[in-house]
Amino acid sequence: MTLDSTNAPLLRVSSVSKAYGDVVALDDVNIEIQQNEFFALLGPSGCGKTTLLRSIAGFEDPDAGAITILGAGSGAGEGEQIDLLSLPPNKRPVNLMFQSYALFPHMNVRKNIAYGLEREGLGKDEIAERVNEVLITTGLTDKADVRPAQLSGGQRQRVALARAIVKRPRLLLLDEPLSALDRKVRAEMQIELKRLQHEVGITFVVVTHDQEEAMSMADRIAVMHEGRVQQIADPVTLYSQPANVFVADFIGTGSLLRGIVANAVLLLRPESVHISADLAGAQLQGEVVETHFFGGSSTTSVRVAEMETLIVASHPGAPKFAVGERVGISWNADDAILLEDQP
Ligand SMILES: Nc1ncnc2c1ncn2[C@@H]1O[C@H](COP(=O)(O)OP(=O)(O)O)[C@@H](O)[C@H]1O
Ligand SMILES: [Mg+2]
Repeated sequence: MTLDSTNAPLLRVSSVSKAYGDVVALDDVNIEIQQNEFFALLGPSGCGKTTLLRSIAGFEDPDAGAITILGAGSGAGEGEQIDLLSLPPNKRPVNLMFQSYALFPHMNVRKNIAYGLEREGLGKDEIAERVNEVLITTGLTDKADVRPAQLSGGQRQRVALARAIVKRPRLLLLDEPLSALDRKVRAEMQIELKRLQHEVGITFVVVTHDQEEAMSMADRIAVMHEGRVQQIADPVTLYSQPANVFVADFIGTGSLLRGIVANAVLLLRPESVHISADLAGAQLQGEVVETHFFGGSSTTSVRVAEMETLIVASHPGAPKFAVGERVGISWNADDAILLEDQP
């Protein structure tokens, strides 16, 4: 009998909860991750992201719920969900790359990458072959004989990735993998991670508190807040159809206008807001309080009397209005997103 498992999720997290004393780190979390997906867990510090990753990897025991993974290969368990929680960490087909990935300083790059495979007791030839392959995928071939101290931050990050990928886990868990890198290298590594994931065909779950990072890399994102999943969706849906005020506020920038509609909030994304000198023809009027020029584009923040939040508009080129000027604010009704207010 062959089971059709093409649509079955690779990983299923069902009703998982975990508390540390009075602190609820995970509160009834439900997530399904598909095979070959680049999945991101996104949320502010302390929302439970690391606890969830550690629970999947086996370094933390949930108080309640189940975590299962799709059986691999042929024979027993193929196409069935296998209970991960009953397996010790080293028996799970999962690899966790820690937030602080310490490389062995006295070993060269090749040795660092080979270490995990040697511990698994693989043969010399197979290890050499697999390490060479990963050196190529991660662009480290010419650094193979160099020690970590001679590498840049980005290159060290690559070695840590190579070390994780070479073990061929079915699921690679990465906890804030790029947080130690400076802005420019980080942007490069975001593209690199996405390319790598595509090339090696391993399912990635990346934890980040940086919404731009999640949006630019992930196929789908679970937004978390205080241990609870707020919404799971692709980046465009999260941005254009946030499930609630928390998601709307956390993803992207935008102005949440209260009081225009009773018990509701209107979300205006900066690119949907049009600012002009035409006061009479605009929906709202206000005073420019701040402008920012980012090189290719600008933002202009406007204060509207009686409104607690500033309305932010973005547009190409340099700022068109000066601080203190009165401007009209308008938007297309279709571009405003209406959300239920939260107490
Ligand atoms: N070992 C622990 N003991 C006590 N509290 C913990 C422990 N680990 C995490 N927590 C708490 O659980 C919550 C979630 O933590 P964590 O999963 O690390 O969040 P994140 O990775 O999203 O920043 C936080 O309030 C944190 O202080
Ligand atoms: Mg964390």
